[in-house]
Amino acid sequence: MKYLVTGGAGFIGTNFVKYILQTHGRQAQICVLDALTYAGNLSSLHDELQSELISFVHADIGDREAVDRILLEFKPDYVVNFAAESHVDRSIDDPGIFLRTNILGTQNLMDCCRKAWQNPDGSYMPGKRFLQVSTDEVYGSLLRDIPDGRRFDIPHPLCDAAGGRSESTAYGNDFFTEDSPLQPRSPYSASKASADMLVLAYIHTYGFPALITRCSNNYGPYQFPEKLIPLIINNVLQNKPLPVYGDGRNVRDWLYVDDHCAAIDTVLRRGRLGEVYNIGGFNEKQNIDIVGMIIDEVARLCNENDRYRALLAEPDRLPDRSLITFVKDRPGHDARYAIDPVKTATELGWAPRIPFAEGLPRTVRWYLDQRKWVTDIVDGDYQMYYHKMYSGR
Ligand SMILES: NC(=O)c1ccc[n+]([C@@H]2O[C@H](COP(=O)([O-])OP(=O)(O)OC[C@H]3O[C@@H](n4cnc5c(N)ncnc54)[C@H](O)[C@@H]3O)[C@@H](O)[C@H]2O)c1
Repeated sequence: MKYLVTGGAGFIGTNFVKYILQTHGRQAQICVLDALTYAGNLSSLHDELQSELISFVHADIGDREAVDRILLEFKPDYVVNFAAESHVDRSIDDPGIFLRTNILGTQNLMDCCRKAWQNPDGSYMPGKRFLQVSTDEVYGSLLRDIPDGRRFDIPHPLCDAAGGRSESTAYGNDFFTEDSPLQPRSPYSASKASADMLVLAYIHTYGFPALITRCSNNYGPYQFPEKLIPLIINNVLQNKPLPVYGDGRNVRDWLYVDDHCAAIDTVLRRGRLGEVYNIGGFNEKQNIDIVGMIIDEVARLCNENDRYRALLAEPDRLPDRSLITFVKDRPGHDARYAIDPVKTATELGWAPRIPFAEGLPRTVRWYLDQRKWVTDIVDGDYQMYYHKMYSGR
């Protein structure tokens, strides 16, 4: 199978390329297309790019000529569109680029695919599939309606054969299903929702062979250090304040990135064309709890291992929760996201494999082991941005 992976130098795209090569070996060929914005880091794929199974094209998904050429020469069976501007804070600061890449870029990709894949009678070449990688944020926000002190356990095993549907979780009774209305509330999520609607319109109008996945928050290796988990790990090591928006009680539903990659590959291969599939693992956490767990894990690793302790800006002092600093809330900050992934689990047999209790320590250790990867991308531009977003809050 030939995969065209757009945005393959970003966080999830990088993990997806590695996942496909590990899972399918020589059965898969991959072409990565990426504009290498501030979030794209090709060095993450250094080893993979040595293989003849993978090629890289430096291009924008909005560049019609470049995309036409790849479709003509590489002839992918699958186009997986990860390419996007993905950081909500940046979208609040400057929405324009989000609309250009996330909406118009997706439209361009689909137009190029239609041209390359459509037969004169309007049908499409067999086996061609376009997958739009979307997000739970398109659904808007759920109420955080269960007061503290009335906690329910999140059901395990996740999404088991019986459905695994939760009646309620620690933070609420309701979940986003594929039928939930699209109610985006940030420029980022509005741009992703717009792209989803365009994909659905192309499916309806042109019979375009596409599918959409909507996943909850991902965590794992190779995430740009502006996002919550790598940012907090970095600051803990540097003994810097840990900025937490508002009261820190906003709830996100976290999934290990490999589980997302496996779900995407499953949907690509077995999903019904024209369908939307939710992806998540019934794993809701408050931001403040995530931050606390990271501090504890860094402290534990540094206590056990002098190599990790040497990474601390103040090796004599283990980090603790006094570093937590509440900062002014993000405008329009969504209270709670919670995905119902039961359709994907029951129809396609996918289930998440990495529980949070294993995935989070694995992730923290990765960022401690890969300091060069982190410092190489924490460049001047990122520092300026960091100060702009957090100083004075
Ligand atoms: N990170 C999450 O938790 C999460 C959850 C659900 C869905 N998603 C979606 O998954 C996708 C990937 O997210 P991510 O976290 O890996 O993002 P990311 O910001 O880490 O990576 C985005 C990649 O796209 C590239 N890119 C940006 N604009 C481009 C353009 N015009 N043309 C070509 N390449 C371009 C960047 O260089 C980068 O390599 C996005 O579509 C996002 O909406 C992310």
